[in-house]
Amino acid sequence: MAKKLFIKTYGCQMNVYDSARMADVLGPLGYAKTETPDDADMVIINTCHIREKAAEKVFSELGQWRLRKLEARQAGGDVTIAVAGCVAQAEGEEIINRAPFVDLVVGPQAYHRLPELLAKAERVRATKTGKGRGILDTEFPVESKFDHLPEQVATPPGPVGFLAIQEGCDKFCTFCVVPYTRGAEYSRPASAVLAEAERLIAAGAREIALLGQNVNAWHGEGLDGSTWSLGRLLRELNDRHPDLRWRYTTSHPREMDDDLIKAHGELSGLMPFLHLPVQSGSDAVLRAMNRGHKAEDYLRIVEKLRAARPDIALSSDFITGFPGETDRDFEATMALVREVGFASAYSFKYSARPGTPGSLMPNQVPDEVSSERLYALQALLMEQATAFNRGMVGRQLDVLLDRPGRHPGQLLGRSPYMQSVVINDSAAAIGDRVTVTITAASASSLSGEIAGQLEAA
Ligand code: 5AD
Ligand code: SF4
Repeated sequence: MAKKLFIKTYGCQMNVYDSARMADVLGPLGYAKTETPDDADMVIINTCHIREKAAEKVFSELGQWRLRKLEARQAGGDVTIAVAGCVAQAEGEEIINRAPFVDLVVGPQAYHRLPELLAKAERVRATKTGKGRGILDTEFPVESKFDHLPEQVATPPGPVGFLAIQEGCDKFCTFCVVPYTRGAEYSRPASAVLAEAERLIAAGAREIALLGQNVNAWHGEGLDGSTWSLGRLLRELNDRHPDLRWRYTTSHPREMDDDLIKAHGELSGLMPFLHLPVQSGSDAVLRAMNRGHKAEDYLRIVEKLRAARPDIALSSDFITGFPGETDRDFEATMALVREVGFASAYSFKYSARPGTPGSLMPNQVPDEVSSERLYALQALLMEQATAFNRGMVGRQLDVLLDRPGRHPGQLLGRSPYMQSVVINDSAAAIGDRVTVTITAASASSLSGEIAGQLEAA
């Protein structure tokens, strides 16, 4: 009988992708995915370390799994507990020491080694006491995991496929743990990307999001042996599959080259939406963050993007209360937001992450000040998102239905601009690409009625 694998995923889309690939690696070992934790033979907690209290949340969740493991053992069985992702990478030793019931801890670069790690963990478990130290693999191996992961087979992607084309980060923003947990920038060759895209499409994907911590820093080997940039790769993908919807995330302003901007004006399948984090509108703060660009540079990029694709919707990440941020600096962020006008955005209070230069900076901002600024910023962003969404009422949008809604008969999809769109239509199904007349809008979603079927799944 197949063993059941439960994966709990936190954090970014890269983690969602990684979770699917871990399921692929474990499939041949007899593990089938389950959505119910209660019947799991193995659990993988795929963690995120980017913000506040990440490790504490993991330990508290592990506490629950420890109880499940004890119960299973009393009944003569067992539950294998694995911790993956960026907390595993950053705090592996600590996890093994504080939570000795964890069987294995695996960093994001070592997922292809899971079968071997699992075998080791099983050997440890077979010892007399059934107890031993958990297995830890948080090396940055010389081989790329992408060359060693199986072809994507076990996990049907659904209508939206995720495809990691780049991983890691060399930018070292002073607030961020990613360069330490995900390692140096690496770009997969175009041939591998194209092959994986074909597999996703064959398995039913109608939209593909190219992923990377610094996705627009992708500089992979092209089909002609030269080094391609992301604009060139997108052209190739779009030429082969102009009917697919293409996206890429997350981008860095420093890597937004003219060719990529031009692609937004030229490629029919490239969706008019871009998540381009700016973090702050103050040059002093941007310098302290080591972002490598000024507010003005960001505004110029936005101008060029809008010249190439006038309806492009923009999204960003912001941090309030970075060390040294003054009221004036914060005002500069508000001014930048007013000038750009964002369709959506994520904003966070600065959280000092251990091991990052920001955590050692002397002029930390009091929590109340960061919170107050966050509320003011979020109010403005919410106003902009609401206005952007209201502007859609009465329009017809191309929507790919990709998930069930909260109520029976409801389906959810995404507009080209990345808005969630709710419809009630018993004739429609997940995977359909439909034209929806938008009838209502809120800050976070749209709702509407199907005006026509673009294509059935
Ligand atoms: N504190 C607050 N926000 C952070 N982010 C990354 N690190 C931190 C931190 N230490 C935010 C950034 C990034 C997003 C993914 O998370 O805005 O773009
Ligand atoms: Fe973190 Fe900056 Fe790299 Fe983004 S660019 S992953 S924020 S270090």
